Amino acid sequence: MAGGSEGQTPLDRPLAGRFVLLGVTGSIAAYKAAELVRLLIAAGADVQVLMTHSATQFIGPLTLETLTRRRAMLGALELLPDRRIGHIVAADSADAILVAPATARWMSAMADGLADDVVTATALASTAPVVVAPAMDGDMYAHPATRANVATLRSFGYTIVEPGTGPLASGQVGPGRLADLPLLVDAVAAAVAGRPIRQPDPRLRPPVDPASLPQDLAGWHVLVTAGGTAEPIDPVRFIGNRSTGKMGAAIAEAALSRGASVTLIKGTTSASLPAAAAIVEAPTTAEMRRAVLDHLPDADVLIMAAAVADFRPRQSSVTKLDRASGLTLELEATEDILAEASALARAPRGGANESARHRPVLVGFAAETGSLERASAKAVRKGVDLLVANDVSEPGSGFGTDTNRVTIVVPGEPPEAWPQLTKLEVAHRILDRVVAIRGGWGASSAS
Ligand code: CTP
Repeated sequence: MAGGSEGQTPLDRPLAGRFVLLGVTGSIAAYKAAELVRLLIAAGADVQVLMTHSATQFIGPLTLETLTRRRAMLGALELLPDRRIGHIVAADSADAILVAPATARWMSAMADGLADDVVTATALASTAPVVVAPAMDGDMYAHPATRANVATLRSFGYTIVEPGTGPLASGQVGPGRLADLPLLVDAVAAAVAGRPIRQPDPRLRPPVDPASLPQDLAGWHVLVTAGGTAEPIDPVRFIGNRSTGKMGAAIAEAALSRGASVTLIKGTTSASLPAAAAIVEAPTTAEMRRAVLDHLPDADVLIMAAAVADFRPRQSSVTKLDRASGLTLELEATEDILAEASALARAPRGGANESARHRPVLVGFAAETGSLERASAKAVRKGVDLLVANDVSEPGSGFGTDTNRVTIVVPGEPPEAWPQLTKLEVAHRILDRVVAIRGGWGASSAS
């Protein structure tokens, strides 16, 4: 899953992490919507299609649903499976709305605010930028009524991508063809440039159709740690870090959606965590170590996304320390949970049943600042199959952000830099790699 080739630059994926609504209305050019969806996805977008009734006469929703992995919205009265109002959820989570092709009738309805189809209703309900690509007969486009409607849409702040000139469905040659599709992607990219991603949390967007996701982790037990740890100084104060748990939560979410059962060992987090995961509270390194080692024997993969403290106070006071007394803290190193888990997982095991079972795939994270050179040595030192390294000092990467730019380090292989992606997309790609590693071990030989 999670397509796209590695090493792409943000210029190749100007819509990375963006949620784009594609409104398709009833022009013959609607047949081009499938290719347009493909281009938007290649540019990094997560796409939801909205169709007017007449658009469905030109292209089947199933085609667009297969490409987007989402049910197309066909009416303003439709509810999502969880009973939320579909077009309102779409309107509130969209980074941009692209209406392509836009008919004369649709522009007229939009100019009047006449919300009698799902595309108009959504645009009315949204503050996202709107890009409109008209396509119709040339005389229709030149008619004063259409010109007035185009002017009105411009006055709303909408971007109009003018139709091109060429052969039309009527047999005539002239203006009215839907603009070239790459121009539409460029117009959407320009409309969102410089704006923050509106709703990176996938749960606040209309849902992906679960049936469209591969259930390649069915039967797997995924053990993932998330957040930071808090090492107590006294009952009130602790040494902590800036981890929010978003990356670990995204991994749990992605694994659940691919059929895994997930145990999420939770340190200090502020991210919302998937309800379907079994949550184990482990606020300190010692508690996290205990929880990881307890669950490791049943795990098919351990993903240590938590930012574990490296040091803790040698002693923590049972009563609140008095400020007036001053404070000098003596710190001791914490246990390296991942290195210990790796040593345990790789140790030869006895027992007839045990030998048939693979050891868990081991995935570590490495938060670095500046160069990622230390990451390769760390991957070997920790005994992991895969290390996900990121520069937490880079904008759009690291603590509290919704996106991440990571480099994948597999011992013995050259590092692989991935483009900036949403944390959910990073999560899916990590899981893709985990599945490949496990597949590479073969059916019988435990690694
Ligand atoms: N980790 C761990 N136990 C620790 C510290 C880190 O299990 N006591 C795990 C983290 O969850 C992460 C990986 O090890 O998956 C790398 O963490 P990082 O902090 O980058 O490495 P350190 O071992 O702390 O090395 P350093 O601080 O020197 O960079």
